[in-house]
Amino acid sequence: MAKIVAEHLKYKYPLSEKLALYDISFTIEPGEFIGIIGENNAGKSTLCQAMVGIVPNFYKGAYGGKVLIGDMEIAKSNISDICKKVGIVFQNPFNQVTGCKLTVYEEVAFGLENMGLPRSEMIDRIDYSLKLLDIYKYKDRNPFDLSGGQMQRMAIASIIAMRPEVIILDEPTSQLDPQGSEEVFRAVQNLSREGITIIMVEHKMEKIAEYSDRVMLLHEGKLIAFETPEKIFSRDDLDCYGVTAPAYTRICKSLGIKNKKTGFYPVTLEETKSLIGFSEKERCPYDQN
Ligand SMILES: Nc1ncnc2c1ncn2[C@@H]1O[C@H](COP(=O)(O)OP(=O)(O)O)[C@@H](O)[C@H]1O
Ligand SMILES: [Mg+2]
Repeated sequence: MAKIVAEHLKYKYPLSEKLALYDISFTIEPGEFIGIIGENNAGKSTLCQAMVGIVPNFYKGAYGGKVLIGDMEIAKSNISDICKKVGIVFQNPFNQVTGCKLTVYEEVAFGLENMGLPRSEMIDRIDYSLKLLDIYKYKDRNPFDLSGGQMQRMAIASIIAMRPEVIILDEPTSQLDPQGSEEVFRAVQNLSREGITIIMVEHKMEKIAEYSDRVMLLHEGKLIAFETPEKIFSRDDLDCYGVTAPAYTRICKSLGIKNKKTGFYPVTLEETKSLIGFSEKERCPYDQN
């Protein structure tokens, strides 16, 4: 499994006056779940695109530094080699559907057809991906008859079938209703358990805090911090970056409840409950007979 390394990555879109990414360096270990946060125009999408080669191979512009996945230098590699290692999922599932396949099964098969795989391996991969994303039951449906959450999971299944080591998701739930969002979050958690490296841009901070091993905070194209969720959300300067900590963290901050061992505020419900010392019984006294 491959590390992802960015070294002094800089990028400016064509015709743009200012850099969209300023001198960004980091290392992501194989199997990590990374959340990317930051206000609009922070550079989140540009960074995602630089990790799959859309920047600078599709969007030209001025590019400096490098991104490596394992020993593959992204800016110097061709798309078909990159696709074997890393897949990207965008906001709107409608934009990712080919529009020319009549069933979910054929849609997921589409990316594999160009890889020259034996038929039996294609079938294994499609079945595995559909089951992992919990959409096997819809395999004979027309993609356009799916709900938003189901369609986004189909887009993710199409990528999983290519067996990438890394999946990048750029606000994959922003166009979905709460149920669809929940379906996608559960699916992404399953991928993470399979050992796939996950990089997810997301505005729902409770989810980022719950799932991420580390969180990358971007602002105006700069990498401000890349730390554990507890460390990121305990910062006093989040307002300056247009980020709001999870509700649990904000409540504990206002009450002065910190984890004494780490010195940081809790970021999840479970951690908050354990620090406040609530037991399940105490949580809802009216339910007890
Ligand atoms: N296609 C483009 N052409 C020119 N500038 C762009 C383009 N896409 C994004 N930008 C600029 O690059 C910066 C980073 O944008 P983006 O990566 O989309 O941020 P985010 O995803 O955090 O909202 C912004 O200043 C934005 O205006
Ligand atoms: Mg974006």
